Amino acid sequence: MGDLVLVKLGGSLITDKSRPYTPRMDVIRRLAAEIREARSGKKIPLIVGHGGGSFPHTSAKKYRTHLGVVSDESYRGVAVVQNDAAKLNRIVVEELIKAGENAISVQPSSSAVAEDSRIVKWDTEPVGKMVECGLLPVPYGDVCLDLRKGCCILSTEEVLGYLARKLGGRRVIMAGKVDGVFTSDPGDRGAELIPEITPDNFGEVKRCLGGSDGIDVTGGMLLKVAKMLELAKEGIQTEIINAAKPGYLKRALLGETGLGTVVKA
Ligand code: IPE
Repeated sequence: MGDLVLVKLGGSLITDKSRPYTPRMDVIRRLAAEIREARSGKKIPLIVGHGGGSFPHTSAKKYRTHLGVVSDESYRGVAVVQNDAAKLNRIVVEELIKAGENAISVQPSSSAVAEDSRIVKWDTEPVGKMVECGLLPVPYGDVCLDLRKGCCILSTEEVLGYLARKLGGRRVIMAGKVDGVFTSDPGDRGAELIPEITPDNFGEVKRCLGGSDGIDVTGGMLLKVAKMLELAKEGIQTEIINAAKPGYLKRALLGETGLGTVVKA
């Protein structure tokens, strides 16, 4: 499925990260409409994943789920985080259905197994079949049982990366609320957009990137870019775009490039 496109709707884009359990319904609705519009004019085999934002990040931080089974409360945490992640997923799926997409929820926590926060086993055949039927699979950053740590958090990047590798996707679109990767904090004076990240300039980019923001338990931008570069080396290109700008996700879906930062080999 070489023309398969995978999208991540970032948690900060679709929720208010400063307020626990607060979806940005207007944004989710607009993005759902853009996805539908792009797909109504053109056949685009697609998987739309999404981050957790202020839903599961809040509970994952409380139970330190990303660190593994670390206390008597850890399995309680697995249950609560799974429920929180699924609640946001239901909202996204519902809005996609209302927009006209035949969206279908895909729960990594109930079918994948991880080792050190990386998926090592997951039957992706059902997701592949969904894409073939024109259904729109909607997986998400989720909790997972982990052979080494007991439990872990799977970022959406990990989930989509695994699916792209298994199903032969070549293009991942990371839809966030910043224009791309910058040389310093995008709010700083003099911060410049880095249009292209490759293995050649990654060392330089690494020095520029700061830590993760407040409630993020999956490692912040640097780790995410490092994972994108791994994918790039396997022929899967990632584009980071600002989907808070109306029309950008639709344009990216229709094949436009150069809208933000591209990570390629
Ligand atoms: C996090 O997924 C999922 C959980 C905390 C369970 P991501 O790391 O992909 O989500 P965002 O985009 O940063 O919110």
